[in-house]
Amino acid sequence: MAGLGVLIVLGAATPGRSQDNPSPVEMRQAGLKELGTAFKNLNDELKKPEPLRVMVKYAVATIGRDAAQLGGWFPPGSGPGPGVKTHAKPEIWTNRAVFDTLNANFRKASGDLAAANGTGDLGAVRTQAKTLGATCKACHEKFRVED
Ligand code: HEC
Repeated sequence: MAGLGVLIVLGAATPGRSQDNPSPVEMRQAGLKELGTAFKNLNDELKKPEPLRVMVKYAVATIGRDAAQLGGWFPPGSGPGPGVKTHAKPEIWTNRAVFDTLNANFRKASGDLAAANGTGDLGAVRTQAKTLGATCKACHEKFRVED
């Protein structure tokens, strides 16, 4: 029975999509989903009159970890192509210097957010969260296909 299960799982796999061996596009989108969730959690928490510091800290740490990785989520050859479901524009790979600059702005804002959180000043954290959000938006406007 166990062998049959494996066969069924293998049979269900389509090219470019697999549970055991995710493609670069799947890795990128999983990472970006995590980043999106962390940023939403951060903003939800900061909207509260008495944000829970542990929630803020956790979200800021997740964002920082993702920010350190984002550049690597766009390796050559992971752009749009036949059968590839991605919102990444091909310009990421033809206009890499601009993409890298927007990514550097994002990484810097993520570092500033962590520094603000380190001071314990929630007002500063709120300000930096807005600055960070603007850096997400700047890259999405230029390099992400709208739905
Ligand atoms: C330097 C460019 C860049 C930065 C900075 C950036 N993104 Fe993105 N993001 C993209 C691109 C390109 C895609 C589309 C990826 C794809 O479809 O393969 C994307 C996709 C996403 C997705 C959809 C993931 C999915 O497939 O479901 C979310 C959510 C997201 N980004 C959130 C964020 C948040 C939140 C920030 C900032 C805290 C951010 N991004 C910063 C370029 C960027």
